[in-house]
Amino acid sequence: MNMEWDKLGFKFIPARANIRYEFANGKWDDGKVYLSYDITLNVASNCLHYGQEIFEGLKAFRRKDGSIGIFRPEENARRLNSSARHLLMAEFPEDKFVEGVKQLVRENIDYVPPYGSGGSLYIRPVMFGTTPQIGVSTATEYTLVLIAVPVGAYYKGGLKPVDACISMDYDRAAPHGTGHIKAAGNYAASLISSKQAKEKGCAVALFLDPATHKYIDEFGTSNFLAITKDGKYVTSDSTSTLPSITNNSLMQIARDMGMPVERRKIPVEELADFAEVAACGTAVVITPVEHIYYGDKVFDYGKEVGPKLQELYHRMTGIQYGEYPDEHNWICLV
Ligand code: PLP
Ligand code: COI
Repeated sequence: MNMEWDKLGFKFIPARANIRYEFANGKWDDGKVYLSYDITLNVASNCLHYGQEIFEGLKAFRRKDGSIGIFRPEENARRLNSSARHLLMAEFPEDKFVEGVKQLVRENIDYVPPYGSGGSLYIRPVMFGTTPQIGVSTATEYTLVLIAVPVGAYYKGGLKPVDACISMDYDRAAPHGTGHIKAAGNYAASLISSKQAKEKGCAVALFLDPATHKYIDEFGTSNFLAITKDGKYVTSDSTSTLPSITNNSLMQIARDMGMPVERRKIPVEELADFAEVAACGTAVVITPVEHIYYGDKVFDYGKEVGPKLQELYHRMTGIQYGEYPDEHNWICLV
């Protein structure tokens, strides 16, 4: 494969094949491999009008010993089903999901970036209701497509700090809404804040809890984590944020490093006290934050990546690339 592996960003580069599963008459089929990325859809499909559309994101890594490993795919299978349950969509068998993801990687093996390039194969499962409808109700037919894209860093520069801007005018989620699932609509709702953030020179918008706007929720595409001056790992506890598999894994790594871990409400004012702040997620891995803008206030965490974030990044990517022992059995070999 002729590709500039070390120059990959987070752009859509179609890999060789995608896999599609269809749900009809109450059951999923066995899936088919497609080389085309086009799809035929009825214009009245539920997903286009009423938004039954959920997705996932996970990565496969080419490892130091030449093997290929997928990071915790069974967790994505579970979260896909938690999203499906909330939007009354068809659940997908979890073992079949993991098998499908492995098959997808095998079908696209030449697109898994080489070890040492810093890249990975991003896997994007997307499920949508295809039943033609004009009245608002749930679909009875669904499609699940697994696509793969070779990616590098989400924000240019890898472990380079970005600036964030607290969204003052808009929420991405409602207090009892869909913030805790991976519904496509959440991302549509976040675009306007993301645009405002970019206009202020920030890479990313940070959202407050939609009920009171007093506590930190999460970034538009990732969870919020902070390191206190006395070395604790702190992350938000909120019913309107996505339960991040990366954050969950980092909390375990932090405990392994002997750091106290606190998952709790984080008042906005506490931003003034943190030593290090980062965004974490599959796409962004750990992205350190240099400044957070909050109205006319600015919190500054410095240009240098802090020592705890560096160590967390080192261990996390070490486990993924097979440079560090996988003590918790997170890697699923293909
Ligand atoms: N929060 C949001 C809104 C996200 O889109 C993502 C990305 O998946 C995350 C958090 C991080 O979740 P994960 O670590 O499972 O990728
Ligand atoms: C991920 O990190 O996998 C995401 O889905 C975030 C984003 C690209 C929407």
